[in-house]
Amino acid sequence: MLSRTQTILERVFTADVPDRADIEHLLRLDDERYVQLLFDFADVVRREYVGDGVLLRGIIEFSNSCRGTCAYCGLRAANRRLKRYRLTHAEILTAAENVCRSGLKTVVLQSGEEDNLDADALAAVIEEIKSRFDVAVTLSVGERDRRDYAMWKEAGADRYLLKIETSDPELYGQLHPGMSFENRIRCLVDLAELGYQTGSGNLVGLRGQTAESLAGDIVFFKKGDFDMISVSPFIAHAETPLADEPAGDLVMTLKMTALARIVSRNAHIPATTAIGSLGGRDERPRALGVGANVLMPNFTPAPYRQQYEIYPNKRCVMEDPGACPGCMGHMVAALGRFVDLDKGHSLKSRSAV
Ligand code: SAM
Ligand code: SF4
Ligand code: FES
Repeated sequence: MLSRTQTILERVFTADVPDRADIEHLLRLDDERYVQLLFDFADVVRREYVGDGVLLRGIIEFSNSCRGTCAYCGLRAANRRLKRYRLTHAEILTAAENVCRSGLKTVVLQSGEEDNLDADALAAVIEEIKSRFDVAVTLSVGERDRRDYAMWKEAGADRYLLKIETSDPELYGQLHPGMSFENRIRCLVDLAELGYQTGSGNLVGLRGQTAESLAGDIVFFKKGDFDMISVSPFIAHAETPLADEPAGDLVMTLKMTALARIVSRNAHIPATTAIGSLGGRDERPRALGVGANVLMPNFTPAPYRQQYEIYPNKRCVMEDPGACPGCMGHMVAALGRFVDLDKGHSLKSRSAV
């Protein structure tokens, strides 16, 4: 059985398009020895294709306003209990300066999918960050027109994160009433065509999600050849339709992280904050041990940090702004790895950076 698992791992690693049944088999492994084989395989691929460095990306959650209907997310438009905020241009610039002062070279600008987003104002923010600081800029502001994406690229944005959440169109439909799976794909295609380093990803443990559907996500990651892939466990938020659902399983999330590494080889893969927020212990070090090579310290200023409540008990919400990089340095060193303060551009050969 051990050798069968090894054979399947090799097959998934080398296939142009991995077989869904093979991936499903790996996702269903429950004997610890076999699961460890999957984890070790991913760790070897990580070491060979992206090395021992762990990249830090400073995230600024500049607005929690959202028009979205995503059934799992605390920022969804229907959550009337959430106090909404938006940072000013000057506040975003100060937060970006804090990212740079900490020695980091990527600023991630994330927000809800704002209804009245001023695309020109965001372009002005990007331009000023790029002209004042030597950093890469990643955007994560949801589904937008190609024109907006083009304007922000022109303004200097380097990367864009837009998770598919689930690659299963039917499940996507159930979890995003009134939203369109086709439009999400259109956005991902537009972003790649416009020259963004593009990131996608999924949630693990969604109501109605099966191992088969998760296997489809891995095939989706492989076919999409994304520069970045993010795998997070679902964590229930009280003010959502999924309030009573159990959180995504840690081991299944780690298996998905490992498989994302194995099929993508050199994508940048974060040990997600949601993995760190699942329970009492911060499990991000385990994600770093099964394929992840990125951490995302939080630079959202108080008091807004608490109001960016996509799920409860998010890690690092009560800490001092800027406390994370030092803490992460210890986390990484304890694993025998090192913090890499490079911009950490895509390692995919198509990227002209
Ligand atoms: N609005 C943008 C978007 O949806 O792409 C960016 C911000 S959104 C809060 C960022 C990510 O949060 C989503 O891609 C989703 O995977 C994650 N998220 C939302 N609700 C979550 C939950 N309950 N548990 C874990 N992750 C969640
Ligand atoms: Fe809005 Fe993004 Fe949350 Fe969906 S996941 S409700 S688009 S913030
Ligand atoms: Fe944020 Fe430890 S990683 S304080």
